Amino acid sequence: MSLLLGVNIDHIATLRQARYADMLDSPNAEPSPLAAAEDALAGGADSITIHVRGDRRHMQEPDAYEIREQIALPLNFEMGNTHEMVAIALKLKPDFVCLVPETREEVTTEGGLDVDGLFNSLQPTVSILQDAGIKVSMFIDPDENQVEASARIQADMIELHTGCFANAFGAEREVETARLHAAALLGNGLKLQVNAGHGINLQNLPELLTVPHLAELNIGHTLIARSVRIGLTAAVQEMRAAMEGYTGV
Ligand code: PXP
Repeated sequence: MSLLLGVNIDHIATLRQARYADMLDSPNAEPSPLAAAEDALAGGADSITIHVRGDRRHMQEPDAYEIREQIALPLNFEMGNTHEMVAIALKLKPDFVCLVPETREEVTTEGGLDVDGLFNSLQPTVSILQDAGIKVSMFIDPDENQVEASARIQADMIELHTGCFANAFGAEREVETARLHAAALLGNGLKLQVNAGHGINLQNLPELLTVPHLAELNIGHTLIARSVRIGLTAAVQEMRAAMEGYTGV
């Protein structure tokens, strides 16, 4: 099975909000997240990822519905564990939800969701979403406790937080790669689909591809940054080409 690429287009909305947050209905409001999703699809994206945050700093609810209705790709909806977001997810019906931390209490020291510590508040959300036919992923540090807690909570997938890996260089990068490797092995052994995301770019990708059992990478920032120079379709094509040849072992 080839490694899939999920394209996170939140920062297209970040740019739009920078100018038009108070004028979203204006015909001038640009750039369009929907058009970005079309470009990502044309470049070979396997799914589109969007995060409607509680503070609405980038994607807005109408963006989510528009993309869901008009883009023929699986939709990965990132969300915090709140009643508001569960209600939106049940209406939106994305293919996947990735539960992410949004408040200080939810976040581990490294930035992943504390599934272990927040088990009791996360568990009902996982069940509600799964009962609605939505697959659930947990965005976690590459940490044994968090992987095991994700299996215990019966998540379908984990997304390993690659932020520390991406920000480490030299010998530290090797340590972070080894942690991802161990977490991926454990997750796969526990029958979880193993994804990865945050801070992945063309420079660190070759090292990440030494990690086994990866099913999908979720990549945003670097693709949007690169799109300024070559366009989003070409940026997605470039990333896909760099991911070719991954065998998963
Ligand atoms: N995965 C998750 C859960 C995220 O929240 C994000 C965005 O921060 C990404 C992946 C993509 O990260 P980046 O924009 O650094 O590629």
